[in-house]
This record gives sequence, structure tokens and C-alpha cells, in this order.
Amino acid sequence: MRPSQAPFPATRHRRLRRTEPLRSLVRENVLTREDLIWPVFVRDGVGVREEVPSMPGVMRRSVDLTVEAAAEAAELGIPAICLFPYTDPALKTEDCAEAWNPENLSNRAIRAIKAEVPGIAVMTDIALDPYNINGHDGYVVDDEIVNDETVEALVKMALAQAEAGADILGPSDMMDSRIGAMRTALEAAGHRNVTIMSYAAKYASAFYGPFRDAVGASGALKGDKKTYQMDPANTDEALRLIERDLTEGADMVMIKPGMPYLDICRRVKDTFGAPTFAYQVSGEYAMIEAASANGWLDGEKAMLESLLAFKRAGCDGILTYFAPRVARLLKDG
Ligand code: PBG
Repeated sequence: MRPSQAPFPATRHRRLRRTEPLRSLVRENVLTREDLIWPVFVRDGVGVREEVPSMPGVMRRSVDLTVEAAAEAAELGIPAICLFPYTDPALKTEDCAEAWNPENLSNRAIRAIKAEVPGIAVMTDIALDPYNINGHDGYVVDDEIVNDETVEALVKMALAQAEAGADILGPSDMMDSRIGAMRTALEAAGHRNVTIMSYAAKYASAFYGPFRDAVGASGALKGDKKTYQMDPANTDEALRLIERDLTEGADMVMIKPGMPYLDICRRVKDTFGAPTFAYQVSGEYAMIEAASANGWLDGEKAMLESLLAFKRAGCDGILTYFAPRVARLLKDG
């Protein structure tokens, strides 16, 4: 016991838990709408909206309906939306050229949202997997995911997204040196105000399964991502990666997945004091939704509790598929 606490009964901790007004006065962390980034899946077509089977309640939308979703998010007070393209398999190639096509799905969506919903920040994903015939985040040469050649491609992708008007670039590829390379290229091209949120500590996780269905990468992926994504057993390595990305020019850093890695969030925040985000990934969403659909837990309460945990762990914000639902709840009180 700390010396500042009188012994029982002078101290009764339950006094402050007795009523909601008392509990709210001493509450240490609060989840707000401003903490949310909403990841959305974009597909081709017009007026198309289809549910992702492994993520009940989550949609793939054509660009026009993605703009509508962005407007709805802005209305709800969500500060940022993050785009993930569901790319036509016919456009997937060995050289991944669609990744930096100014007219690709993602770049068209960025432009459309920036034109029609100026009040929301647009975040992107930078990795080759949606465009790669073998489903990997980098080029595959003789069974190796090659680093330096991939970084050159990622830089082209970053420039195309910045050109389209993205506010936040999200390199999720886990190649070495990509943040520095992108920052240098962005400065050289005059994109001085484009921010980078680095997926700095991204683990080789089983919790990405439903996402790979959502973007149509599950079928394509051969093997696993363990040579570039982190070993779930490691902590110190995450700190080295975060430090590396911050010194290369990342404005914000991300830890991914979220809930199983809250210890990393806390350590990162305490060590660097940098803007720190977590990604509550597809598998975390699917677990809560599935249990809720079965009546095994109260989905709404589990959702709020899971998101509050990120605030407690020191995160400044959370990427979550629950964003619009939770924003609506928080807005209505
Ligand atoms: C692609 C990427 C992935 C996610 C975000 N960007 C999947 C992966 O690395 O295989 C996962 C997001 C989620 O599961 O919700 N580089």
C-alpha cells in the first residue's frame, strides 16, 4: 500500500464508485469521437454496397458511396477515414503497376472525397498486397520478398497518393528504410505538408484474416509475412522500429494489431511521447461481432470497453471498423 492511503476504514475505495456522477468525476480516461479513424473498403462500380462475409456490418462501397460514407463520418465528428481498395484480380500483376496508377480505385476515391467532403482527413494504405499477383506487401524474387526494389515502388505509390490529395499516408508494408525514402521524395516533390502515420510495429498476426478476405488478398497470398512483419514474441524490437521510423520522418506511429498488443502501445507512448495509434484489426472486430451475434456477450458494451482500453494504454487514437457505430453512440450520449 502507498503511504498516501489511510488504512481501512478511513479509506474505502468503493465510496467513489457508488454513483455514476462520482465515478465520472474520477474517471481517468475518456473515449471521444475525435479519437477515431474509420477504415473503409472501396470497390469499383457505381451505387454498389456489399457486405464483407467475414466482417458482418462492414461494407465494400463503390467510390460514390464511399464519398457518402465520408460525409456521414464527418457529420458524426470522425476526424479521418482510411481507404483500402478491393482490386479487380485482373489488375494484379508481378510489377504491381496499378499501385501507383493515378486513376486507381484508391486515388480516385481520395480525389472524390477531398472534393466533396473537405472536412475529413483522408488516410491511405501503402503496401503492394492489393496489387500483387502473389498477395505479398513487397516484390517476390526467387521466393524472397525483396526490400530495396519494393521501397522504390512504395515511393511511387506514396507520391501518387499525395498528388491525389491524401492527408495521411499509411505505409503498412514493413520494409526497411521506406519512411526515409518517402519523406525525401515527398519533400522533393513539394508535398511538404503530407503526414505519414507509419505502421511501425506491425506484427505477423492471425488477426488479419477477415481483412484479407475484404480486400480479396486471401486467395492470392502464398506463404506468410513473417520475413517482414514482426514476431509476436517481441517487444524491444518494436521500440527500435518506432525510433527508426520517427527519426526517418514519420509524424505518427501505429501499433498493429491492437488489443493483444496494448503492452506495446504503453511502452511506445512512455518511451517516445509521439502521436501513437493502434489498429483494432479485422479479426478483433470479427471476434466481438461473432460473440455478440451468438448472444455470448453484449456487443455494444464490449465494443466500448475494447476501445477505451486503447486510451488507457496511452494511444492518441484508434483505427476501428466500429468508428461510425461508436461515434453515433457517443454523439447521442
Ligand atoms: C496490408 C494491410 C493489412 C492490414 C492493413 N493493411 C493486412 C496484412 O498485412 O496482411 C490488416 C488490417 C486488418 O486486419 O483489419 N498491408
